[in-house]
Amino acid sequence: MNSPKGIFRVVFLLVVSIALSVAAGAEAGSVAAMPGLKEYRIERGLSEEGRGCIECHAEQTKGIVADWAASRHAHANVTCLDCHGAGAADTDVSKAHLTFGETRISPVVSPKDCSRCHPSEAAEYARSKHANTLELIWKIDPWLNHGLNNEVERTTGCSHCHGSIVKLEGGRFDKQAWPNVGVGRINPDGSKGSCSSCHTRHKFSLAESRKPEACGQCHLGPDHPQVEIYDESKHGAIYHAEGDGWNWGAAAGMWTPGVDYRSPTCSTCHMSGVSDVATSHDVTERLAWETQAPLTVRPGDFEAWPAVDHNPKRERMKMEKVCYACHSKTWTRGHFFRFDVAVDNYNEVYYKPAKEIIDDLYEKKLLSKDKPLDEKLEIDMYELWHHEGRRARFGAAMMAPDYAWWHGFYELKKGLMEIEEQAEALLKSGQPAKIFEVKGSGGDTTKPEFGK
Ligand code: HEC
Ligand code: HEC
Ligand code: HEC
Ligand code: HEC
Ligand code: HEC
Ligand code: HEC
Ligand code: HEC
Ligand code: HEC
Repeated sequence: MNSPKGIFRVVFLLVVSIALSVAAGAEAGSVAAMPGLKEYRIERGLSEEGRGCIECHAEQTKGIVADWAASRHAHANVTCLDCHGAGAADTDVSKAHLTFGETRISPVVSPKDCSRCHPSEAAEYARSKHANTLELIWKIDPWLNHGLNNEVERTTGCSHCHGSIVKLEGGRFDKQAWPNVGVGRINPDGSKGSCSSCHTRHKFSLAESRKPEACGQCHLGPDHPQVEIYDESKHGAIYHAEGDGWNWGAAAGMWTPGVDYRSPTCSTCHMSGVSDVATSHDVTERLAWETQAPLTVRPGDFEAWPAVDHNPKRERMKMEKVCYACHSKTWTRGHFFRFDVAVDNYNEVYYKPAKEIIDDLYEKKLLSKDKPLDEKLEIDMYELWHHEGRRARFGAAMMAPDYAWWHGFYELKKGLMEIEEQAEALLKSGQPAKIFEVKGSGGDTTKPEFGK
């Protein structure tokens, strides 16, 4: 089905059926009667304009029309124009496209466009850390605020996951910022994020977003290996062994553990409706900690982005209720007991002592506070919390012993030794640490506008 040949066949049949339905005019019922043709009635309630887009694009961009035709949107008669039609106030109208027809279209489809029909998902998303990540990272990130990387490194790296600031100048997109489907991109209409980060266009599929691969594109690597953690957990092993046979397309709120699937995915634990825990597009819900932060704190106490009205006990209870669909209370609480003590172990045994050593060196001027990542010890301290420290906590949170220990606490022990050794050498010599020129520096350090 997913082979290029398969796609071609679907598109071909679709084009044939469109041609026939156009020929048959208003009552194109004949298409359905033809054996072997995909039954697909675009004429139902479609304006001339709306049909025009589909006909021409079935030639110009076959893949797009095929994806759309396979979507719930096509079945519900949501057409190209519903999402791409540009209103009078839209600033992102494609001038080039006016050579293909009079209808003004906009290439950018933002959460605001989707919110017309999906207001609650859009509202939850708008308050999430996903949507607001650019503002958040500009508050705390050393690479951005000290210009320690350049625009090339930012656009090929950070912006792909976090999002870019989509701008048009003279009707043309800034190529550094477009295309982009990062979770917190800032759109020309001021709305934040991109719904296609998880529901790729033009299928906009519920099934796709429920699978771990949808999240794993960003949630991976040395500093946030959630998808690797998932893969090595028992939950992930079961998903890989038999997930192909599960019912991924059940309607929202109806996707039932034990009926449609027997092991949770990222979506089950963090977003899907389970028992009386409602579906949410705000991924900070259900979390009791900020385990990505240098010192683990409660989400309401996270200075850079304090979660509003966040009660960690209540949110933990929501997460536990997800587990109760498949586990006993004893099993679940045993897990969370071990996670919480692992958080404490990281904070007290590794992070705080390491930070004390580094702070002492700053105090004694053996390390320079000027730039945060231009001395070897600063990089080592950064990796201690940002890489191994996170892996230890995430591994403990999501049942991955290899991450908790070998990529986590073991590396923390080693990292702390290396910090101690270098600190002793500096204290002994009394000579300040070598300051490196950070290659590839020079990125803009002006904080962008983040809108409302
Ligand atoms: C007569 C043919 C034709 C019609 C009718 C047409 N398009 Fe297009 N459209 C094109 C072509 C050709 C492109 C450019 C593709 C490319 O860049 O390779 C395009 C590009 C686009 C793009 C992408 C623009 C960009 O800058 O990335 C969107 C979105 C789009 N069309 C939507 C629509 C919608 C919505 C309609 C109906 C109102 C429509 N089109 C009608 C031919 C057409
Ligand atoms: C449910 C909303 C929705 C519908 C319906 C929709 N689109 Fe899109 N389209 C999008 C989104 C989202 C993007 C990605 C742009 C973005 O991230 O803002 C996109 C991108 C595009 C692009 C540029 C993609 C590329 O890879 O170059 C074209 C062309 C396009 N759409 C044409 C169409 C056509 C033709 C139809 C009707 C068959 C259609 N769209 C229906 C939401 C929609
Ligand atoms: C004009 C109204 C309209 C717009 C605009 C719209 N949608 Fe939808 N959407 C619908 C309808 C109607 C359904 C089908 C509901 C059903 O089948 O129960 C749907 C279904 C969905 C689903 C569930 C699909 C599935 O597999 O069951 C997702 C996800 C979705 N839309 C995302 C989006 C995104 C993202 C955008 C913006 C890029 C968007 N929609 C824009 C009306 C719209
Ligand atoms: C592969 C995708 C990806 C890339 C590339 C990436 N990030 Fe991230 N970033 C993430 C994810 C996912 C998280 C969430 C970590 C968590 O909570 O576990 C994150 C978290 C962060 C945080 C911490 C936010 C918080 O709530 O404490 C900052 C700051 C940050 N990233 C900045 C950057 C910068 C700057 C770059 C480029 C130099 C970058 N990231 C590159 C995906 C990425
Ligand atoms: C971080 C990934 C992610 C992003 C970004 C995202 N969604 Fe979803 N969405 C999901 C997941 C996962 C589900 C499935 C929840 C479930 O199991 O019912 C879902 C479900 C939906 C549904 C089905 C109804 C429901 O509430 O479950 C709609 C409609 C929808 N999303 C629209 C949107 C819109 C509109 C946006 C942008 C404002 C958006 N999504 C952004 C992951 C995402
Ligand atoms: C396009 C990249 C991308 C995708 C896809 C993505 N995320 Fe994220 N996610 C991020 C980034 C970036 C952050 C960090 C936001 C911040 O703290 O600034 C993040 C943060 C999070 C957080 C931490 C929230 C908090 O309060 O600390 C959770 C939980 C999360 N994502 C879950 C998911 C799930 C579940 C999915 C899939 C359904 C998903 N994400 C898909 C990029 C992504
Ligand atoms: C069995 C349930 C479960 C599954 C499956 C799961 N998680 Fe988690 N996740 C958790 C729990 C529990 C926590 C810690 C919650 C807390 O802070 O109390 C967590 C923490 C996180 C965090 C750290 C948030 C922060 O900043 O502190 C991110 C990001 C995240 N998960 C993303 C994902 C992604 C992406 C996937 C899939 C690849 C996934 N999770 C799969 C239960 C799960
Ligand atoms: C959809 C059902 C389902 C949900 C929801 C679920 N699990 Fe599981 N979980 C399983 C299954 C099945 C196994 C495998 C049991 C076995 O080893 O026989 C498992 C295994 C585990 C294990 C054992 C891991 C190992 O390596 O032996 C732990 C711990 C666990 N789950 C904790 C949780 C927690 C905590 C939650 C909620 C955040 C949760 N689970 C949610 C189905 C689920």
